[in-house]
Amino acid sequence: AAIDLGPYRHFMQKEIYEQPRAVADTLEAALDGDFSIDQLWGKGAAERLQEIDRVLLLASGTSHYASLVGRQWIESIAGIPAAAELGHEYRYRESIPDPRQLIVTLSQSGETLDTYEALRHAQTLGHLHTLSICNVAESAIPRASALRFLTRAGPEIGVASTKAFTTQLVALYLLALSLGVLRGRVDATALHTHREALRQLPGSLQQALNLEPQIQLWANRFADKEHALFLGRGLHYPIALEGALKLKEISYIHAEAYPAGELKHGPLALVDRQMPVVVIAANDQLFEKVAANMQEVHARGGQLYVFTDLDSHYEGGEGVHVIRLPRHAGLLSPVLHAIPVQLLAYHAALVKGTDVDRPRNLAKAVTVE
Ligand code: G6P
Repeated sequence: AAIDLGPYRHFMQKEIYEQPRAVADTLEAALDGDFSIDQLWGKGAAERLQEIDRVLLLASGTSHYASLVGRQWIESIAGIPAAAELGHEYRYRESIPDPRQLIVTLSQSGETLDTYEALRHAQTLGHLHTLSICNVAESAIPRASALRFLTRAGPEIGVASTKAFTTQLVALYLLALSLGVLRGRVDATALHTHREALRQLPGSLQQALNLEPQIQLWANRFADKEHALFLGRGLHYPIALEGALKLKEISYIHAEAYPAGELKHGPLALVDRQMPVVVIAANDQLFEKVAANMQEVHARGGQLYVFTDLDSHYEGGEGVHVIRLPRHAGLLSPVLHAIPVQLLAYHAALVKGTDVDRPRNLAKAVTVE
């Protein structure tokens, strides 16, 4: 059946607004009941996941950026080494298979050929422990995986992925928790704390959506730019990558993302009065480092557009524009910070008058190499 746009102008806008619901639905099985690993990941999951001591996340595009956050959560929450790689890179290089490694594929559509072939390649190398995080039940990638988790974003029509991304993020958080529980690194008290934080998430996402009018004002200033830089560190570097990708995809503004610490090793040369620099400056343990990086941009006349949290007390000024998200959300912060960069790209595209839901040259699911 055709999907109704309802009160929205574009599917992308509708899908951005569906995120609190999509995230709540995706979390349902993990927040109701007793956190059964087999119920979350499929029959035999607890036994299989006990056996693994490394994780490799394979994906493309936005799904890859989700895995760049996920690998950090898996290391910090579960204490298991984790790496993330693009499927089309992994399948053509010589890698060292490890039977105790869990291969995780992430794909909204479940049909992306690069990701599917990467999974097949891993299987030919002898990997038996495979898990897919996907938004489409009857698709190729989950069908080819030993374990699967379905995100409950609902159909995503806009080519630029939004609600699929944030639901993938929460699925990865649940994976990190599950592995942590199995290894005894997350005890009952810690699990309770994590689940309480997850319960708060849909409400906080709603608060982030309420920032739209402020973001719209920023977008008006972006629309005539040819380039933009996105900066973040740690858990928020992948959000900078995602913000730059969204802006490129739908507004055709050239955008690049860097880990803010890398600024001095090159991109600082691009900064002048014409250059908007978007910074994901969450109030985490790296905030002071990011603030120092912002100072480097400011000193060279760059225009700063800073997404921070209310409790960082970071102030704007001449050439420094600030939008504050609600109180810092700890490890879950990247999920919240994804919202404003989506809205920024959406509104910049509206001002430019591009075809938001069907950007030129791109496809929703890429089933060719
Ligand atoms: C295409 C889409 C992107 C998406 C990527 C991976 O390039 O345009 O939005 O992130 O494929 O798709 P998947 O379905 O595997 O998540």
